[in-house]
Amino acid sequence: MTARKITIEPVTRIEGHAKVTIHMKEDNTVDRAYMHVNEFRGFEKFCEGRLYFEMPQITARICGICPVSHHLAAAKAGDALSGQTPPRPANLLRELMHMGQVIQSHGMHFFELAGPDLLLGFDANPETRNIIGLINANPDLTVKAVQLRKFGQEIIKTLGGRRIHPVFAIPGGVNKALTLQERDDILKNSDAAIATLRIGLQIIKDWAQKNMEDINKFAVFPTGYFGLTTPDNGLELYDGDIRLIGRDGAQLERFPVANYLDHIQEHVEPWSYLKFPFYKKMGYPDGVYRVGPLGRLNLAEKIDTPLANDELKIFKSLNKGKPVENTLYYHYARLIECLFAVERVSVLCADPDILSTDILNTRKDFKGHGVGVIEAPRGTLIHDYTADEGGKLLKVNLIVSTGHNNWAMSNAVESVAKTYVMGPNVQEGMLNRVEAAIRAYDPCLSCSTHAVGQMPIQLDIVAPDGSLVKTLTRD
Ligand code: MG
Ligand code: NI
Repeated sequence: MTARKITIEPVTRIEGHAKVTIHMKEDNTVDRAYMHVNEFRGFEKFCEGRLYFEMPQITARICGICPVSHHLAAAKAGDALSGQTPPRPANLLRELMHMGQVIQSHGMHFFELAGPDLLLGFDANPETRNIIGLINANPDLTVKAVQLRKFGQEIIKTLGGRRIHPVFAIPGGVNKALTLQERDDILKNSDAAIATLRIGLQIIKDWAQKNMEDINKFAVFPTGYFGLTTPDNGLELYDGDIRLIGRDGAQLERFPVANYLDHIQEHVEPWSYLKFPFYKKMGYPDGVYRVGPLGRLNLAEKIDTPLANDELKIFKSLNKGKPVENTLYYHYARLIECLFAVERVSVLCADPDILSTDILNTRKDFKGHGVGVIEAPRGTLIHDYTADEGGKLLKVNLIVSTGHNNWAMSNAVESVAKTYVMGPNVQEGMLNRVEAAIRAYDPCLSCSTHAVGQMPIQLDIVAPDGSLVKTLTRD
């Protein structure tokens, strides 16, 4: 029996698509596995020559899945570039929209994208291991999950003017205030959202107890962790400094977002268009880090809302206060963040400034350069613009959430392939676990490659002699 190569294409239940190649050895175990991201449309180049204040609209079109994240990061880069600090009410309103995005994105990921594996099992029949199978297995929970997602979507629509691509944030603030009626309509559904998340948290805790063996051998590895933080090291999704902690949990750096290039650099591999960011001082690959829910909860010492903070304490106990390294715990961390976002909506709505009409600062102090950073649902999103005196963009640098996690996802794919994939008869459930390794990070490959629309992922199994043994393509 010669060794083989497996291809999974497309990797299902992720946002966008990629390709995975698994190289087999003569003894039918895995030699190496790669995740390739192959499509690239040069969105950064495409933006050059445009006006900086158009960027909240233009970059919202990078991705149909994360338009709000790009919209807000672009507005923040514009604030810095034009020297227009938004009035406090504008920041509250932007953060409120951001919470809407976090709730709908995290809610959908847990219940609809990860749900089939968690609730039906990695080895369940692929014919029914999907959202339809989930509805059949638990119709009541599915309805609640849809309502949770709708809670987030309605916030975005209320602020963004009921459009798919929001026209809301602009450099210096926002262009629409919130009415009392709108605020009260948002708050009406908050309790139901919290109740659904409590069910979700119970599901993941029960699941973790039953699947501890998998959790502890499924892509568990040390990295640094990177993300925004509050002044006292709390969880922060909209603003603040960046904090980087090491494998042992100790702080390595804390810096204003504008200085990110002093601390991180991007490594390039010939087999992927997606770059690999790392912490400069430690070099590549020692300086790789993770972002997104697991990264943020590892670097947050507390959460400023009570229910999520209680859950954070339980989460921190998983590894006795040290960083939680298990890839499958991304799902758990995602739910805790979603709970925070729902609680945060109430905090923001209770702030008297949220109904203020002082929402735009039009006085410019033009700098010509600006960096805007937010914690998108998937992780840290960086927009960096340089413009001439007329406001025309000379240079645009974007580092998307999925990019920061590129090394971790690639490593997770290889780790899971080596742990679970065995020849000569490679089972579907084995390959589903490889996909699940990617899925845990909730990558947005549309964003990462700056490609418009969806790209398929494929999984190839390759023999030691380089010949293609099997290709898996599904959609
Ligand atoms: Mg870039
Ligand atoms: Ni995206």
